[in-house]
Amino acid sequence: MEALQIECFPCRSDNFGVLLHDPETLMTASIDAPEEMAIVAAAERRGWKLTHLFTTHHHQDHVEANLALKERYGLAIIGPASEARKIPGIDRTVADGSSFLFGNNTVRVIETPGHTAGHVCYHLPDAKLLFAADTLFALGCGRLFERPAADMWASLQKLAALPDETVVYFGHEYTQSNARFALTIDPENRRLRDRAAEIDAARAEGRFTCPTTIGLEKETNPFLRAGDPQIRALLEMPEATNEEVFAEIRRRKDNF
Ligand SMILES: [Fe+2]
Repeated sequence: MEALQIECFPCRSDNFGVLLHDPETLMTASIDAPEEMAIVAAAERRGWKLTHLFTTHHHQDHVEANLALKERYGLAIIGPASEARKIPGIDRTVADGSSFLFGNNTVRVIETPGHTAGHVCYHLPDAKLLFAADTLFALGCGRLFERPAADMWASLQKLAALPDETVVYFGHEYTQSNARFALTIDPENRRLRDRAAEIDAARAEGRFTCPTTIGLEKETNPFLRAGDPQIRALLEMPEATNEEVFAEIRRRKDNF
């Protein structure tokens, strides 16, 4: 089986667009639809024609171009059942544990409530790819708009349980400010300090920071590290539950 191909590109002020292409069947999916012309330009750069749109959640900066792309390509829009009313042009709904075929590749749906109540991530186990949108960022996680911290912690645990080598595409270039915050929570983490320096260098050169991997996030992302003794000591929460520690880290980030 020929490997899937990916085109990731910045758009809007700080979003990422991502296209997923199967060279065997020539199917191409856009992960979310942040900006019509940026997506069209990316597809044309690669000579791909969009056939699918995988929607992760209902926020405007993820669904704005749904109808325009549907009109242009006649593509099929797939998205979470619980947010279907808010997803323009949706054709097919999915829920936690759903799976479907994209070419010859199985796509598994992982529901990750927190940022929104129905947010889903798309996981391709064979290709070891995860499209995490606004649930998991490089060194961060989405803001809790529609569900409490305990739900988001449980959602992040589902993603952390994926194989370390899973490559993660995410929704926003927030990495440099996430790194500055992460260093206030986990200052002695050598791997994090090295990564923060790499991120500063990348951004200074105008490079973006997507994708990441599950393994790297588990080592450096404070939102996945609520059980870490050094973090708990710094927060003076040695006896708290992981959910409580996570909630405190999220609260501090909201005020950072
Ligand atoms: Fe969002």
